[in-house]
Amino acid sequence: MKFLLQLSGEHPDLPKAEIAAVLEGEGINYNIVYENRKTRILIIDAKTKNSEFLQRLAMTTKAAEFVAMSNNLDAISKNIFKKIPKSKTFAVRSESHRIEEELGERIRNPGLKVDLTNPDLTILCFYEKEKYIAGIEIPLKRDFNLRRPQFRPFFHPTSMHPKIARLLVNLGGVKKGDKVLDPFCGTGGILIEAGLTGMKIFGSDVDEGMVEGCRKNLDFYNITGEIRTVDATKIDKEFKGIDAIVTDLPYGRSSAIFGGNIIELYKNFLKSASKILKSGSGIVIVTPKKFLPKLKEFEVIGKYSIRVHKSLTRRILVLRKG
Ligand SMILES: C[S@@+](CC[C@H](N)C(=O)[O-])C[C@H]1O[C@@H](n2cnc3c(N)ncnc32)[C@H](O)[C@@H]1O
Repeated sequence: MKFLLQLSGEHPDLPKAEIAAVLEGEGINYNIVYENRKTRILIIDAKTKNSEFLQRLAMTTKAAEFVAMSNNLDAISKNIFKKIPKSKTFAVRSESHRIEEELGERIRNPGLKVDLTNPDLTILCFYEKEKYIAGIEIPLKRDFNLRRPQFRPFFHPTSMHPKIARLLVNLGGVKKGDKVLDPFCGTGGILIEAGLTGMKIFGSDVDEGMVEGCRKNLDFYNITGEIRTVDATKIDKEFKGIDAIVTDLPYGRSSAIFGGNIIELYKNFLKSASKILKSGSGIVIVTPKKFLPKLKEFEVIGKYSIRVHKSLTRRILVLRKG
């Protein structure tokens, strides 16, 4: 099935990296049919008839089943018309009012009903490089803001926005049912997103208060998981058979560091992590330091920076166990 996607403008590379990791994790082969990095339009041909994977994505803003690309609106309308059952109402949505009117009129003329307030189907139509690109919208449920840290029973300011937490989980290249561990779990922000996307979750933190708070937060979302009080440098003694580790490392500003020197803590954590991960498994770590581990067990497969505010830029590293 071909999907027409509009990517978020929040980062030049992460939305595409997220799609690639989710498809790889789900075992879905795909190829890119069309891409415009400026307008952030992407068309992929994915070897699946199921669009469920789209609901996992954090950095895709619009999605549709791709129908047609042409410089001629008549050709677009004919193809769209064939796809809409006679009993359904539709509306065209585009950045251009002219396109909404002209395409809507052409589809309506052969006998379909328009409903601008509550249509059964929404046709998305983009226009670029003198071409119209159209598809039937697959609505994306977007409730990240409702899960912001301040709405949970246990709050700590170090917890990141759920949209970023979801992105990190996805970069781990996991599929439903995989075991995801956050060994610096804090209040559980990453584990909540992993749990809501159907992963089996495991978490630990050296701080007993955080562990209790994390359990409360998971209960609040009806997520079950195994949360323990463990130093991250000793996770190999507690967990095994983990498919991915996704974590936001402490960096000694508002989050406490237990384990002395921060670089030593990171390295010792990675050494312990390498013992519980299967070969090919991913580790996604977030750190504000320019920290690039040189451990023979891991290959760096992605490096990204995201600016949180003027004094905080987070670095996301995606590693793979060899
Ligand atoms: C940046 S916060 C994690 C925030 C978390 N993602 C959340 O949603 O709340 C880092 C966490 O690492 C924990 N930590 C610090 N040193 C640790 C260590 N040696 N082992 C395990 N956890 C540690 C802190 O207690 C803190 O909860």
